[in-house]
Amino acid sequence: MSIKFVPESASFHLTAKDTSYVISIVDDEKFVAHTYFGKKIPDENVNYLLRLGNYSLPSKNNRERVNFYSTFPQEFSTSGLGDFREPCLMVRDKNGNSCCSLNYRAHKIYAGKPKLEGLPCTFGSESECTTLELECEDSVLGLEITLLYTVFENLDVIARSVKVKNCSGDPIDLLRVLSACVDFDGAGYEMVTQHGAWARERHVQRRPVLYGKATVDSSLGKSGHEQNPFMALMAPGAGDENGEVFGFNFVYSGNFFMQAELSPIDLTRVVMGINPYDFSWRLEPGESFTAPEVVIVYSDKGLDKMTSTFHDLYRNHLIRGEYKDKKRPILINNWEATYFNFNTEKLIDIAKEASKSGIEMLVMDDGWFGKRNDDNSSLGDWFVNEEKLKGGLKYLVDEVNKLGMKFGIWVEPEMISPDSELYRKHPDWCLKTPGREPSLARNQLVLDYSRQDVRDYIYETMCSLLSSANIEYVKWDMNRPLTNMGSACLPKERQGELYHRHVLGLYEILEKLTEKFPHVLLEHCSGGGARFDPGMLYYSPQIWCSDDTDAIERLEIQKGTALVYPVSTMGAHVSDVPNHIVGRSASFDTRGIVALSGTFGYELDVTRIPKEDREKIPGQVEMYHKYNNLVRTGDYYRLTPLFKKLPYECWGFVAKDKSEALVTYVCIMGVPNIHSRRIRLKGLDENAFYRNEETGEVFSGAVLMNAGININVNHDFEAKLFHFAKV
Ligand code: GLA
Repeated sequence: MSIKFVPESASFHLTAKDTSYVISIVDDEKFVAHTYFGKKIPDENVNYLLRLGNYSLPSKNNRERVNFYSTFPQEFSTSGLGDFREPCLMVRDKNGNSCCSLNYRAHKIYAGKPKLEGLPCTFGSESECTTLELECEDSVLGLEITLLYTVFENLDVIARSVKVKNCSGDPIDLLRVLSACVDFDGAGYEMVTQHGAWARERHVQRRPVLYGKATVDSSLGKSGHEQNPFMALMAPGAGDENGEVFGFNFVYSGNFFMQAELSPIDLTRVVMGINPYDFSWRLEPGESFTAPEVVIVYSDKGLDKMTSTFHDLYRNHLIRGEYKDKKRPILINNWEATYFNFNTEKLIDIAKEASKSGIEMLVMDDGWFGKRNDDNSSLGDWFVNEEKLKGGLKYLVDEVNKLGMKFGIWVEPEMISPDSELYRKHPDWCLKTPGREPSLARNQLVLDYSRQDVRDYIYETMCSLLSSANIEYVKWDMNRPLTNMGSACLPKERQGELYHRHVLGLYEILEKLTEKFPHVLLEHCSGGGARFDPGMLYYSPQIWCSDDTDAIERLEIQKGTALVYPVSTMGAHVSDVPNHIVGRSASFDTRGIVALSGTFGYELDVTRIPKEDREKIPGQVEMYHKYNNLVRTGDYYRLTPLFKKLPYECWGFVAKDKSEALVTYVCIMGVPNIHSRRIRLKGLDENAFYRNEETGEVFSGAVLMNAGININVNHDFEAKLFHFAKV
């Protein structure tokens, strides 16, 4: 068992691979203290770390109770009693008061990891995981608060969540229930987050944690382009390859809140969970609420090791379904090829040409349903537009199948257009507040997923769509944030539940659909990459990374995304030039090489691109088949610093058994009159010898990693692959 209760110190020692996390129960009142988190230590009594001598415990000196609360490293912070740092739990009780406390009552330790009802979460078997349920209470409120911890035996990962149960006889309104709180000792930490905008997602930002609070959040009803539910706390002196890094990622796809706070006494508190913004949840007597999971990764070797732990965790313990460990079909998507302007003939032309080059699937994007010829109408009317698709959907799919290709389809099932049959029939099915004009975005509104009738309708509609033809892929889009938070069905004291109920409704539908159509490959999307989060990865093994398909812009987007998320999850396509968003023209080779570090596919009109580009597709298809196993299942390494902008980018993949490596180098801007670049590889076996496939030269792993290789690729936007195989 890698979780132990040590009675002498009244502490819980949680051990994940090389990580220790210690929780202690202190004082007669049984406060729950966060004692230690870091590199593995033995089960000794380390309660001295709490510095309890520096202030008096309430049972010994009640006159300074506030001083105790305001300095005590709380395992799960509560509000109203004297801890003035960020609280995780806040309520409104029957008297209208908001105080709450948390005191230990009992615990359970067992092998395995429980599922979180209705929520995505990481999973692991009884031999891979151990779980601690720390049952706490607020006896005044009659609230039971269970803190859940699961450690992974072979990964430096601790997964946390919280369950709150109302054991009183009156309703209690939860005003905030975050999922994790960690109090770190000391100052001087830095915080790494991912920020962005449409077509510019997940750029990486690093900043010091100074006195006060630094918040990263979303109130968009989805995780968003703007911020990602990820934060890494870097200990003083930590870098790419060295030092302690603590990575936090929220397994959730709605409003989130993450904060790092440096308090006056030099304790650094990190909290993470559902955004308390416009959140409340009514708990009737006997009801409980489960907060989504936060995964916490510990690295003693900088950001590099944090990245590889996240990648392994998500590939093995989060992503599910038939495509979990499978190569994905190379697809061609018609969005940038035709936008809304297509018909059966055009799609079959694209498929015919694509199939000749080895492309394996045609994806029909937006514009095939209702009367949708632009983005002004028809969301909700998920029946085929027979004027455009003569012969219907099944005919088209069968024709594509006859070419030996699979068929995929685009949908946006959380949305409704005011100009749609669905809206005319059910004007109350969208989010809106009485008397107020709902705010349109892309001329569309959001369906009210808190309603069972809406969810049932969407589920049934998707089922009939997916059963109507041989559809083997779905791109599930979501193109606007949630606003006008009002449901026609919820009573007034439950309207604050709407943001979370939307996400729960979405998860319910996705769970049922993935169960019913296990062979369908699902790719999530949200105006590009506005819902790239671990919650979505539980249902789909890949997510569209960004609407910006320019190979050079993608370098930063994909590097930032891969800080946390496996390369196998990043939707990446070769598109036409000049690029539709930035007008840049990278060569066809470079576009292929950059998309290779992702799911790989095409997004162009293959019948119209220059012949010399078209003729390169079979070679790129071959490249994909040759390297995808390595890219998908191997270890990913950044070979350029994360935070320094260089005129080139370089990264690599090494097979788990270290038998081969692939290095990708992209010159962003050529620099005249310089030597070739020296790149040091990572992750090889230093005692093994590797042959450079192109030159035939053989060097030891030690030479390749410590001395490096010279790369002479110096033209703007030029890219090259280097493959090394063990001899
Ligand atoms: C979003 C997606 C695009 C495309 C369009 C269709 O913007 O990110 O890839 O599917 O919607 O409207």
